[in-house]
Formats: sequence, C-alpha cells, structure tokens
Amino acid sequence: MKSVDDSLIDRFGRKIEYLRLSVTDRCDLRCTYCLPKGHKGFEDPEHWLNFDEIERLTRVFAKRGVNRIRLTGGEPLLRRNLPELAHRLSSIEGIDDLSLSTNATQLEHQALDLKQAGIGRINISLDSLNPELIEKMTGRDALKRILSGIDAALDVGFSAIKINMVVLPGVNESEIDPMVEFCMERGLILRLIEPMPMGDTGRRQGSFDLQPVKNALAQKYSLVPAVLPGGGPARYLRSLDGRFSVGFITPITQHFCESCNRVRLGVDGALYLCLGQDEKFDFRPLLRNGASDNEIESALLQAIDMKPERHEFRESPSKIVRFMSATGG
Ligand code: 5AD
Ligand code: SF4
Repeated sequence: MKSVDDSLIDRFGRKIEYLRLSVTDRCDLRCTYCLPKGHKGFEDPEHWLNFDEIERLTRVFAKRGVNRIRLTGGEPLLRRNLPELAHRLSSIEGIDDLSLSTNATQLEHQALDLKQAGIGRINISLDSLNPELIEKMTGRDALKRILSGIDAALDVGFSAIKINMVVLPGVNESEIDPMVEFCMERGLILRLIEPMPMGDTGRRQGSFDLQPVKNALAQKYSLVPAVLPGGGPARYLRSLDGRFSVGFITPITQHFCESCNRVRLGVDGALYLCLGQDEKFDFRPLLRNGASDNEIESALLQAIDMKPERHEFRESPSKIVRFMSATGG
C-alpha cells in the first residue's frame, strides 16, 4: 500500500491517479470537430518522447500513486510498435489498469497483440453507423474498417468496450437511436459526448445539451441511473436487466472538475494539467538533459501544483487554441 504522502494531491485536494498518455498527434481521420483538413502543425518527430523516455516518466508517476494509464492520440495505433510500449507500461509495478482510446480503423490487425500486451479496456470513437455520414464527419470512407475493428475487439475478448459518440447539433443527432440499438445487440457501452470548444474546429460545432437526450432515452428504453466502475466523468443510465449502459459526458452543461483525477501527457513530453486550460509542464528537457529520477519526481510535484481548479469552456470558449488531437481528449 502507498502511504498518503506518496500520492499526488493538487491544491484543491484532488488525488491524481490517472495519466492519459498521447503517443502521437497524427491521425488518419479528420473529424470535423477535431482536426482541420490540411492540418500542418504536427509535432516534429524529434520531439516525440521515445519508449524509454515514456517508460521512465511513467515509473515516476507510478511511484507517486498513479495506477491507471490510457494510451491516446491523435490515433495511437499509428505509433509504430505500440504493443511493445503497452507491454512495457503494463509491466510497471503499480500500474494496474492500462487502456486505449482508438478510432479503430487499424484495430482489426492489432487487437490481439494489444490485448496480449496488457491492454485491458478499450474505447472506440464512432459517431454514426451511416457510411456517408462517417465520410462527411471524418473526411474518410472509414466505416467498414471501423466496424471490422469493433468486431476484432469483441472477438479477442476485451471487456466493457465503450463506444464514444460526439453528438453534433443537426449532424448526427438522428444517429443516436440506431447507435443505442447497435450497442445493445453487441454488449457495448455507449457514451454520448458534448462537443468541446477545443481549437477552432471544436468551437465551430456550437454546444449541445445532452440532458433532453438523456431523458428521452431513459423513457424509450426504460433506463435507470447507474454507477459504472472506472466510469470517470460520464453519468450513466442502464437497462433494467443490466445488460446495456449509456453514459453522458457533459463537460459544458454540467462540469465535473471537482472530482478530476487526471493529467495528460502530450507526445512531446508536455504535461497538460487541464483539458480546458493552458497550464503545462515540459518534461522533455529534463528527460533529455540528464535529470535524475529524483529531479523528475520533484518536477512532477511542481507540475501537479499548477493544476487549475476547473476548465472555462463555457465562460471562455475561445481560450484553447490546441486541437483535441494534441492531448487525446
Ligand atoms: N469535443 C468533444 N470530443 C472530441 N473529440 C475530439 N474532438 C472533440 C471535441 N471538440 C473526441 C473524439 C474521441 C476523442 C479522441 O476525443 O470523439 O473520442
Ligand atoms: Fe482522429 Fe480522434 Fe481527432 Fe477524429 S477525433 S480526427 S479520430 S484524433
């Protein structure tokens, strides 16, 4: 057991035990609310942390009580040899939950390797089951590959697979019911997400209040409130037989900053303390200039001290200029 002194507690008394780790800022899709077409501002590969650097930093986080890691992107499966990294991270003492968020376009071929490398849980982004709408929303004719990826994830036996669906007003609202049925049939957990004003792509979407959708789904499918283990910021409803759950991620209409337990590491080694704020701490210079583990650990404490109390998506929606693909949601 870790003593209380070893854990990361921020200025607002929140315990930080969850690291979201972006392994690339590249993506093979161009979701309209995320990455602009023709985007050129990708990070220089020289600045990407290599696997040794990521592992070393993760060990320091784990020593300080971080026990959950999620690999994100961009699209994490575009990072070469991702299963090797997954294996190295899942072997670190204290890391007892390694998960992945992916768009699933490449999952068909990697699902088994990733499972064997110690990834336990997987979240898949999918905003529609209509091939034309997927092409419109992602800029690619990708639905077939995504569906094969989902099948592969089910086949290799990932448990509690979640489908993340960003709901855009006037674009894919009508896709919610077909998605509910798709997830019900396959035992997938659905999560509906309000668009966030990240970068000008995110801001262009306008806001969408999921509360009326939640009420309508509760009524139509006789759903009742539920708590899911590791559920994070989503508020869930489940069917009476317990076989289907749908979560609502509502950072705009109902924020959940008071229980935030996470920080995000960009591919360049910048630790972002809040999705909706600019505070960050750059670990790359320390890693590349021969800092000791103790120095990295003190830097981590300093970084956690910078964690802001809450995002200001509603009050200052123009604040965050970086795209979601830089920090992986
Ligand atoms: N608002 C909400 N979610 C977003 N994502 C990307 N951009 C946005 C945005 N502006 C989500 C994707 C995916 C994850 C990488 O982040 O749907 O689930
Ligand atoms: Fe890629 Fe995910 Fe952004 Fe879509 S939301 S462009 S899949 S990183």
